[in-house]
Amino acid sequence: MSQGSGSKDRVLIFDTTLRDGEQCPGATMTFEEKLEIADFLDLMGVDIIEAGFPIASEGDFEAVAAISRRVKNATVAGLSRAGAKDIDRAGEAVRHAVKPRIHTFISTSPVHMKYKLQKEPDAVLQLIIDSVSRARNLVPDVEWSAEDGTRTEHDFLCRCVEAAIRAGATTINVPDTVGYTTPDEYRALFEMLRSRVPNSDKAIFSVHCHNDLGMAVANSIAGVMGGARQIECTINGIGERAGNAALEEIVMALKTRGDVFPFETGIESTMLNRASKLVSAATSFPVQFNKAIVGRNAFAHESGIHQDGMLKNTQTYEIMTPESVGVSKTSLVMGKHSGRNAFRDKLKGLGYEVSDNQLEDAFVRFKALADRKKHIYDEDIEALIDENLATAEDRVKVVALTVIAGTMGPQSATLTLDIEGQHRTVQATGNGPVDATFNAIHQLIPHEAKLELYQVHAVTEGTDAQAEVSVRLAGGDGRLVTGRAADPDTLVSSAKAYIVALNKLTHARGAARGAVRVHSTH
Ligand code: KIV
Ligand code: ZN
Repeated sequence: MSQGSGSKDRVLIFDTTLRDGEQCPGATMTFEEKLEIADFLDLMGVDIIEAGFPIASEGDFEAVAAISRRVKNATVAGLSRAGAKDIDRAGEAVRHAVKPRIHTFISTSPVHMKYKLQKEPDAVLQLIIDSVSRARNLVPDVEWSAEDGTRTEHDFLCRCVEAAIRAGATTINVPDTVGYTTPDEYRALFEMLRSRVPNSDKAIFSVHCHNDLGMAVANSIAGVMGGARQIECTINGIGERAGNAALEEIVMALKTRGDVFPFETGIESTMLNRASKLVSAATSFPVQFNKAIVGRNAFAHESGIHQDGMLKNTQTYEIMTPESVGVSKTSLVMGKHSGRNAFRDKLKGLGYEVSDNQLEDAFVRFKALADRKKHIYDEDIEALIDENLATAEDRVKVVALTVIAGTMGPQSATLTLDIEGQHRTVQATGNGPVDATFNAIHQLIPHEAKLELYQVHAVTEGTDAQAEVSVRLAGGDGRLVTGRAADPDTLVSSAKAYIVALNKLTHARGAARGAVRVHSTH
């Protein structure tokens, strides 16, 4: 069992946002977005990054391989089923990682063995031994998971775990694949395994909980109380069906209630809010307003009684500070008279490290925004830095847009695009101004891509707030790309976001070019 500092046991955080998280319908991330998220998770102190499922597709393989090459501190894991081809592919993908891990799994519950695998328990046991041994020949760090572990018969689970450890597994994960267990039951399961499996002290036990009954975080922590020392989780709790246990909730529960949970993680908690935004932007999955830790309302106090209490002493209604998760309280920040140095300081305060060129570019856009918007809030600056920027390599850029909207249809859009250096203008009508704008894009650039998602949200409050638009397009080859843009004019940001996505589809971009936000200093 690993020891943390002082009297607390260290619990390893295994982030599976890029694998289980990405499995949730519609949460597909681009290659560049995956690299950006992996870099951020590494900086934030995640111990193990599950980068993908290499056999699933060429894209998954490439992403796991690229993440393996760039991650500096964390272990990089690739998932594989029990077959030889899967394992070899996972081994190949993580080969260049500083700390590579193969994570192999097979179902062990009666219902999964009978209907999904159509195999007898002894055949499954043999596959466990073969798969773990094969993986262990490729890398020294092998995790084995008993899929549907919480619905597995105890005697059989003990035999499987013992065999996996004997074959060389260094981590044993017992997932609650269908989100069925309860805290008491899950804790007892780990206590049972640790006392009954003779070689249980030779491996680290891991929890992996789905949230079908809303108990994923509670179950995960209960598993740790039962002796597990690795927690598998995702940013914002994204994942199959109702999702996985949320990383930010686990980290803050352990930190805030250290009095009852004597455990610590290596996560820099001031980066949690930023991680949430990054994943939300990449997946275009909004974070619910009342989401614990990272929801917009998580630190908002609305009622008079609460506000009064907060003014007297923040501890009346706050069990952790917003700053401890990277939320800044000072919202009103800058205006059109703010200079370059103040802007650089602001970015630093928000946790962004920018090069001189990036600063220059962001400053020009900040000034343009300040000309149009009276109050510039932290969120405006974040949106400014985070949007996918047009770059010199982009074939197409938005030059001008005029839209006629209102009750007297048809709504129309006159759009000018710069297409490979040539300005071209067209007018189109549509069922509403957004439809008209997208029809105009279609006329200027005929394409097959299908619009999979169109999402708008206001960056701040007020009618002059910037509208941040996400557009997800599916190319003919099934490739999904997301474009994002922010502007006080919703239709301008819609056009820009669409064009960003289209540019992404038409040519592969290099690695994430945006500023890397390393730390929130609040
Ligand atoms: O939920 C699950 O069982 C999984 C395994 C593949 C680890 O995600
Ligand atoms: Zn899972």
